[in-house]
Amino acid sequence: MADAQTAPEDLFDAAFEIWDRAYVPYSHYKVAAAIRTPSGRIYAGVNVENASYPVGTCAEAGAIAAMVAGGDRDIVEIAVLADGGELVTPCGGCRQRIMEFGGPHAAVWAGDLHGRRRRSTAGELLPLAFGPKAMASEPAPD
Ligand code: THU
Repeated sequence: MADAQTAPEDLFDAAFEIWDRAYVPYSHYKVAAAIRTPSGRIYAGVNVENASYPVGTCAEAGAIAAMVAGGDRDIVEIAVLADGGELVTPCGGCRQRIMEFGGPHAAVWAGDLHGRRRRSTAGELLPLAFGPKAMASEPAPD
């Protein structure tokens, strides 16, 4: 990554590699996400839908699950790739998920297959976010 404002094409490449594997028989809207952690590792995921529609999972949720399973817990930046219509933007639930592991300064990049890119931050996408500090006690480290 050259700097915080330069689109992370390595993350978009990682997302593009798996984008076509998204399981989307209902929406036909394929999404892939790739996360960079402070260690430099990259974790990716795609959306996986279900005949019971609410059970489907977003690409961001899949990438975060892979990150946690891989032993990492911090998001430096995340790239989300989809195609068609407007640039993709994480749903409300995924904004909360990204906030949990990235905090307000995590960079959230949206992109499409035609090279369009847009940067925002988790804090911009989810102002006044609910988090552990709102509760009496923060989660104990494990
Ligand atoms: N979706 C994602 O995976 N990530 C986003 O950022 C936006 C939406 C998925 C959920 C569903 O499978 C499909 O896109 C249409 O909403």
